[in-house]
Amino acid sequence: MTRPEILMPGRMLENVERALDAHFTVHRIYLRDDRAAALSAIAPRIRGIAAGGAVDAALIDALPHLEIIANFGVGYDNVDARHAAAKGIIVTNTPDVLTEEVADTALGLILMTVREFSAAERYLRAGRWPSGPYPLTNATLRERTVGIVGLGRIGKAIARRLEAFGVTVVYHNRRPQDDVGYRYYSDLIEMARDVDTIVSVLPGGAATDKLIGRAVLDALGPRGILINIGRGTVVDEVELIAALKERRIHAAGLDVFEKEPQVPAELMALDNAVLLPHVGSASVYTRDAMGQRVVDNLLAWVAGKPPVSPVAETPFKGWQPR
Ligand code: 8YV
Repeated sequence: MTRPEILMPGRMLENVERALDAHFTVHRIYLRDDRAAALSAIAPRIRGIAAGGAVDAALIDALPHLEIIANFGVGYDNVDARHAAAKGIIVTNTPDVLTEEVADTALGLILMTVREFSAAERYLRAGRWPSGPYPLTNATLRERTVGIVGLGRIGKAIARRLEAFGVTVVYHNRRPQDDVGYRYYSDLIEMARDVDTIVSVLPGGAATDKLIGRAVLDALGPRGILINIGRGTVVDEVELIAALKERRIHAAGLDVFEKEPQVPAELMALDNAVLLPHVGSASVYTRDAMGQRVVDNLLAWVAGKPPVSPVAETPFKGWQPR
């Protein structure tokens, strides 16, 4: 039997590549200098994509027999899922297996930001401790109210941790969630006014683009702390930098940025920003599990079984050979 041929537009984890090589003919287009010519030569044979990077409408249109795009990551703003849906192509992502890891990172980032742990460590390493203790932090997690924006699986795992820390949790979503008792705000600005900490767990894409801008930051106010563990595009970075500089908010903790891996120099210069290089899910354990999910979705497809985790835009209704 001939092996199904799949496209790999960018490098993936070694064990994912090995597992895919065992079952598929994998076309590593990113290794080719003549990408466009190489792609058009193999395009008619490609039926699947294992994706770590961008899969736009042009790439989808270039592959007439494409049936599945298996994305590495729970967020799939790198894939034009609506375009895939219109063509009957299934998109899958890697939910669940990273939930607890990302929630752990969020808590780490919250604590680092509220209690200035990275600045305190820099102080120690700079040899400044013998001249006097690190200044007391103006912020504390005690008596804070955290508003989670995007209370999905990861948001709920963050909320559970915050509850254990004795912190009040409220949330803003498009719709209220039935399975939680936290106060719901249909209006983000109203919530920002009532809380002193916002944790954004929102996915990227047009619907959430720059949702957290000047109005939300000003409503959050001078005691306010913004944490972003979702996607950088959700926050208006220019407005955030201005708010941090002018101390219209107290601090920000960011794991994600608008144009990764570029981080504005202005942001890096601010001592009231804690900045992580998108490490939310980045442990070997969790990335392996995410990679396995990519493989499992592709193996389900070749076996003619339902995909493990199709995205909302492309609910599974049977495989449709194209
Ligand atoms: C990954 C993530 O960094 O899953 C996501 O949506 O943001 C991260 O876990 C990314 O998807 C792949 O590098």
